[in-house]
Amino acid sequence: MCGIVGYIGHQEAYPIIINGLQRLEYRGYDSAGIALYDGTNIKLSKTKGKVSDLKNKIESEISTDGTLGIGHTRWATHGVPNDVNSHPHSSNSGDLVIIHNGIIENYDSLKKELIKRGYTFKSDTDTEVLINLIEDVQKSENLKLGKAVQIALNQVVGAYAIAVFDKKKPNEIVVAKLGSPLAIGIGDDEFFIASDASPFIEYTKNAIYLEDKEMAIIRRGKKIKVRKIENDTEVDPYIQELKLNLEQIEKGGYEHFMLKEIFEQPSAILDTFRGRLLSNEAIIKMVGVEDNMKKFLAADRIIIVACGTSWHAGLVAEYIFEDLARIPVEVEYASEFRYRNPVITEKDVVIAISQSGETADTLAAIKLAKSKGAFVFGVCNVVGSTIARETHAGAYTHAGPEIGVASTKAFTTQITVLTLIALRLARAKGTMSSSEFRHHLIELETIPGKVEEALKSDAYVETVSEIYKDSKNFLYLGRGFNFPVALEGALKLKEISYIHAEGYPAAEMKHGPIALIDEQMPVVVIATKKGHYEKVVSNIQEIKSRKGKIIGIVTKGDTSVKELADHVIEVPDTLECLSPLLTTIPLQLLSYHIAVMLNKNVDQPRNLAKSVTVE
Ligand code: AGP
Ligand code: GLU
Repeated sequence: MCGIVGYIGHQEAYPIIINGLQRLEYRGYDSAGIALYDGTNIKLSKTKGKVSDLKNKIESEISTDGTLGIGHTRWATHGVPNDVNSHPHSSNSGDLVIIHNGIIENYDSLKKELIKRGYTFKSDTDTEVLINLIEDVQKSENLKLGKAVQIALNQVVGAYAIAVFDKKKPNEIVVAKLGSPLAIGIGDDEFFIASDASPFIEYTKNAIYLEDKEMAIIRRGKKIKVRKIENDTEVDPYIQELKLNLEQIEKGGYEHFMLKEIFEQPSAILDTFRGRLLSNEAIIKMVGVEDNMKKFLAADRIIIVACGTSWHAGLVAEYIFEDLARIPVEVEYASEFRYRNPVITEKDVVIAISQSGETADTLAAIKLAKSKGAFVFGVCNVVGSTIARETHAGAYTHAGPEIGVASTKAFTTQITVLTLIALRLARAKGTMSSSEFRHHLIELETIPGKVEEALKSDAYVETVSEIYKDSKNFLYLGRGFNFPVALEGALKLKEISYIHAEGYPAAEMKHGPIALIDEQMPVVVIATKKGHYEKVVSNIQEIKSRKGKIIGIVTKGDTSVKELADHVIEVPDTLECLSPLLTTIPLQLLSYHIAVMLNKNVDQPRNLAKSVTVE
């Protein structure tokens, strides 16, 4: 999710906000906008594109005076990137204006209720629903803005960092936070609001970071009031003195974007199933799947086309779809599929997976499939990207911008989306009982917490990395659902540390690769308790008897592998079909630490681009 910036004080707001949005550009975005209050009117300007496009538009469109304002860089979740869907959004009266980072899950039901009450909507966003809900609450109970925001947010399900002001009361801004970051800079009779401190660090080092379910009413010349959204009780805010420099702030205090994105995976997975996984009602809600259910159920097979890490996610999906929904799946490198004159019919469903939504080979494969009459479904991370627009339907991952070239949170959120689809189809086809289905939903809901737990092995993985960082070759082995994870682990190591690594099905060792094993060859073996465990243990014994060095990725509490391996890294127990979401974590960390120890450019590895838009 992108960036918010706000200012209220004695300086001109515009320069602070526009520079602040430029500071947040590293967070990735597709559109931007600013609202300023000049003492009489709210002046609002917004556009698809870059902050520089916004700057040119604003300075030719509106006068930029005013000491109160808010600005936004958007990473769309609802409504394609265009001028109308950009933020800020105004309420129907025009008195209230909002900027929002996050997702309002129940926006659809709220919107329907507001339409019944006569509200109209210009945009397709969830955010415009929120500002009109706030207005509706304010008007119906004649409330101050802060109280209206507090009551409205108690009706909202989702994630938000918002800033709202009312032109009828231009001496205050109301902010609130749940799931998305929000920092408040405390100046000398002036206040700054932003997604992180980078827009205001040059003005003040005193900041409050709101906690989840907290809001603040910020008034000129007054002490800031922080309150709990749930019950409006006052909170004594902790004002900290920032020690970070600008670059450190952009990376959230992490040394690299890749590490930041590895640690964002719990929230990225949560955001991806938010509003789609409803375990209480035991339902999965995905409009793109529901609207095309007949095509999915009538399909002779599902063909998955993708490249790189996205192809690995597709391979995991093959195991999940076939195991749970009993639908034949073929996974194709898009670059091969597009040229090999494949047999495609109208009875085929093609799923195209792409983080960037711009990969040329995947796009070409989509066009080929469409030309042969297949139904094409996209799984992308960038709303409104070319692939998202080219496919007949789709489901977005909500990983937020992925800046590091090596894909991490995109991989786990792609698997999350594909698992939701497989479960939904299994339920529709009756290949899964309602109790099994519910059990899977409940376990999937525990995954963000289990990823959090898996991340706690980071320090230990760093010590293991130190031991093997000078190895010239690695082998990665896995079986079943974790065979694709072995491939992905090898790719991660290759692309950022430049060490040669190969992934193999563990049982393939005896068909050749075992000849490579000696004491110079570290072998990473994924040996989860429910994944053909005994077979994998015997593979480990084969390696050990040839003096191979073994790094085992095991289920917490494992003992057998612990006795055989040189090192074991534990991940929490889960359903085997969900284990890739956990076993990939130590492999991401291993490749990261080795690359850092080898002084490689982790975020921009040599020869690589974040999106391969050429053949
Ligand atoms: C993965 O770490 C690489 N960055 C690369 O393999 C990437 O997954 C591939 O280029 C596909 O990109 P896409 O998901 O944006 O289509
Ligand atoms: N969900 C909102 C939208 O799609 C906010 C997205 C963001 O965080 O930028 O406009």
